[in-house]
Amino acid sequence: MSPPSPAQAPVAYEFFAGGGLAGLGLSGFRIGFANDLDAMKAAAFRANHPETPFRLGDVWDITLGDLPGRPDLMWASSPCQDLSLAGARGGLKAERSGAFWGFWRLVEGLQAEDRGPSAVVLENVCGLLTSGGGADFSAVCEAMTRAGYRVGALEMDAALWLPQSRPRLFVVGLKCADHLASEGPAQPFHSPRLIRAHARLPQSVRDAWAWWRLAPPSQRNGDLASVLAPEAEWLGEAETERLLALLSPLHRQRLEAIRASGERRIGAGFRRVRREGDQRVQRLELRFDGLAGCLRTPSGGSSRQYVIKAAEGRVRIRRLTGREAARLMGLPDDYRLPDRDNAALKLTGDAVAVPVVRALSDQLLLPAVAVQTRALKPRATASRA
Ligand SMILES: C[S@@+](CC[C@H](N)C(=O)[O-])C[C@H]1O[C@@H](n2cnc3c(N)ncnc32)[C@H](O)[C@@H]1O
Repeated sequence: MSPPSPAQAPVAYEFFAGGGLAGLGLSGFRIGFANDLDAMKAAAFRANHPETPFRLGDVWDITLGDLPGRPDLMWASSPCQDLSLAGARGGLKAERSGAFWGFWRLVEGLQAEDRGPSAVVLENVCGLLTSGGGADFSAVCEAMTRAGYRVGALEMDAALWLPQSRPRLFVVGLKCADHLASEGPAQPFHSPRLIRAHARLPQSVRDAWAWWRLAPPSQRNGDLASVLAPEAEWLGEAETERLLALLSPLHRQRLEAIRASGERRIGAGFRRVRREGDQRVQRLELRFDGLAGCLRTPSGGSSRQYVIKAAEGRVRIRRLTGREAARLMGLPDDYRLPDRDNAALKLTGDAVAVPVVRALSDQLLLPAVAVQTRALKPRATASRA
C-alpha cells in the first residue's frame, strides 16, 4: 500500500512544540497546528517547518477557534521542571507544569464540538509517576479516562535507540485501540515504577487502563563516539585541570585506571551538585559506557555536558556542541539549529528524542487513528490555519 499523500495523512496538533522534535517523530501524520511560548524555539520551529501553522504564545491564550478542523492526535510535551526528579517538586498544580491543563481544556473543548482527537499523548519526565504522592499521574489518567480514552503509559529510554540515557514517560490515551493492548505489563516499557504507580491509581482508571504493546528496536544506532564532531576544540590545560579537580575519589580512580591502561576511550562528563555529609559539593561525574548522560537545558554550568577522551595516557576534555546534542536527540544534520550554541543546547536539552516518538507513532498512534478514521468515514479533513 502506498503511503497517504500529505493532504490525506492523519492530522496531529503539536503542543509545547519547542523545536518540533515530536512532530519529526510523528512520521505519517501531518502537523496541522503547533504552539510554544518560547521565541527562540519558535524561530527554530519555523525555520525547519515553514509549512506548519505555528502559534507563538501561552497555551492558555489559545481558543478553540484558533484550532483548524478535527485533529486525529493531540500531543503535549508539557513543561516538566516542577515534576523532574532533578528539580524541586511543585507538581502539576505549580504554574509551569500546570500548562498541561491549558492543553487539556482544548481537548475537552474540541470533544464538546464533536471534533475531539482519537489519540492524546502527554510526554513528561518519569517523576510524574510519583510527584504529589502519585496524585499528578492519577489526575492526568483520570482526565483521559473521563474523556473516553483507554489510558496507558510507557517508560521509554532513548538509550534503546540512541547513545543518550534519557528515560521519559509517555501517557497515551486512545479510542478504538483494544487490539493494541497486551494482557499485562511487559518489559522494557512497563517498568517496575510504572507498575507500582498503576497499582496506586483509582479503580475507575485501572478499569480503563491498557498495557500498550510496543516492540523495542533490535539495536541502538551507534555509540557516543559516533555522534562526535572531529573538528571540535579541546579545552586548555588549566580549564581541564580545574574540571578534573571536581572528580570524586571514585571517579578519579576510574579515570586513572583508564589513563594508566593507555587505552583510547571516549566518555561523557557532567557537573552535578551532590550532598556529601552536611556539605553540597560540585562534582564532575564521568561515564564510559558509550552513552551520554541525559541532556538538560544549560541553565547554569551544572547541566552542561562534556566529552572526555583518554588516549595514550592523556586526558582531554571539551564541551559537547549543539550539533552533537542534536544528533543525540536523533535530529538529522540538515536540521537548522539556532546560531548560538547555548540556544541549540537549550532547544535540544528540553526536547523529546525523535526515534522514540517514531516508535510510538508507527506502532500505536497511526494504527489507532487508522481504525478511528475508518469508523468515522466520511469525515472532513482538517484544513490549515
Ligand atoms: C519539555 S519542552 C518540550 C519541547 C518539545 N517537545 C521539543 O521536542 O522540542 C516544554 C516546552 O513547553 C513550552 N511552554 C512552557 N510553558 C508553556 C505555556 N504556558 N504555553 C506554551 N508553551 C509553553 C516551553 O517553551 C518548552 O519549549
